[in-house]
Amino acid sequence: MPDSRTKIAELLRSTAPGTDVVVKGWVRTKRGNKNVAFIAVNDGSIIHNIQIVADVARFDDSLLKKITTGSCIKVEGRLVESLGSGQPVEVQAERIELYGTADPETYPLQKKGHTLEFLREIAYLRPRTNTFGAVLRIRHAMAYAIHKYFNDRGFFYLHTPLITGSDAEGAGAMFQVTTLDLNNVPKNDAGEVDYAQDFFGKPCNLTVSGQLEGELGALALSQIYTFGPTFRAENSNTPRHLAEFWMIEPEMAFYELEDNMELAEDFLKYLIRYALENCADDLAFLAKMYDGELLERLRFVVENDFVRLDYTEGIEILEKSGEKFEFPVSWGLDLQSEHERYLVERHFKKPVILINYPKEIKAFYMKQNEDGKTVRAMDVLFPKIGEIIGGSQREENLDKLRARVDELGIPQKDIWWYLDTRRWGSAPHSGFGLGFERLLLFVTGMANIRDVIPFPRTPKSAEF
Ligand code: 4AD
Ligand code: MG
Repeated sequence: MPDSRTKIAELLRSTAPGTDVVVKGWVRTKRGNKNVAFIAVNDGSIIHNIQIVADVARFDDSLLKKITTGSCIKVEGRLVESLGSGQPVEVQAERIELYGTADPETYPLQKKGHTLEFLREIAYLRPRTNTFGAVLRIRHAMAYAIHKYFNDRGFFYLHTPLITGSDAEGAGAMFQVTTLDLNNVPKNDAGEVDYAQDFFGKPCNLTVSGQLEGELGALALSQIYTFGPTFRAENSNTPRHLAEFWMIEPEMAFYELEDNMELAEDFLKYLIRYALENCADDLAFLAKMYDGELLERLRFVVENDFVRLDYTEGIEILEKSGEKFEFPVSWGLDLQSEHERYLVERHFKKPVILINYPKEIKAFYMKQNEDGKTVRAMDVLFPKIGEIIGGSQREENLDKLRARVDELGIPQKDIWWYLDTRRWGSAPHSGFGLGFERLLLFVTGMANIRDVIPFPRTPKSAEF
């Protein structure tokens, strides 16, 4: 390790007081009297601070004055058992070096609590708060657990492209990628944009999903997963939508819808259990600050079976509920989050996997059921979140897939390679997409998706 300091996470676990240590970090608070200064320092390795005790007589007055909230210091000293009640150990300072000051007149993160809205405006500084330290450490732990889960089960991580020429979801909400001069767009003889002159020689966009390429991987490596950013230009300003979000998309050859459901449930429970076991301090902090029922809710999901239910039955339950929904319920409706949350929070009081949706409201690639009306789709619905996972068994029959593609007017020339996989060595296969930030909303108990990603991208907002 090139850095001689000891991280605070390690110091606080230390069972060997009396040793000489070096601590580096950002000052959270400083208090004291004319004899002694208590400086709380945090380095992001853990939610807790270490207390630095400085004997005022040993240090320059001007140095101590400049140690204010937000400044960055290096402390050399001795780790000793703490006399105060707040912490097991503290550091008796021998030398202090000031790396960077933080003028109290201008530094925005003073000691007092700030609203999450205000912190969004200073997203470049919010990782220094307890809340965002906790969220970002949990985000990291979940990313690690996702890779571990799949690696331990023989899935391969497949890197799918971010720039594509196809629209995987057929929803049309895509960001275009171009190097054409928008002030002087080249036109062809028909007066249309001449994409032959564009960088890729055709219209391209940022991917909305890695699934189609993921399927190509699954039909060779058997089991793959993607984990990367996806982009949606839908103009939805809600606490659950981002224009740039991360998605995990496993895709498995030889899996039918039931296998897909098994995997989705096992995967979600694994991740939540991992958080409970490995992020206890951060979860306890978030529970205390924002959501008193957080830990209970997490344990409940780990310990209970998810309900599996046909879309048609779900609609019947909603129709009979006597509830006045903003969007009236009838068969064929694309469920809104108010409906999803009714089923999960009020009716079953458990996560629900809803399957066999009407084909009209689902993407072209889903396997068609015998009834000619529904497809083998599955959405996993969670308390407080609504849809956390969307997936399906895939249509592996070339003729049926082609017919659906034509019916929807999707140009075959854009996805000829996808159709080809059904010509050669087609196989039953399934997969799903977990929205990473939706998972984090659930695990952290935060209420707004903008607060579980370091730098949120939403309509009219791309600062930092
Ligand atoms: O349901 P979606 O659109 O499904 C797909 O993209 C499939 N290709 C996945 C697959 O089968 N491989 O999106 C999957 C999940 C949703 O359930 C939700 O959790 C999340 O992605 N999601 C969003 N998260 C944040 N902001 C948005 N705008 C999101 N749109 C979808
Ligand atoms: Mg969906």
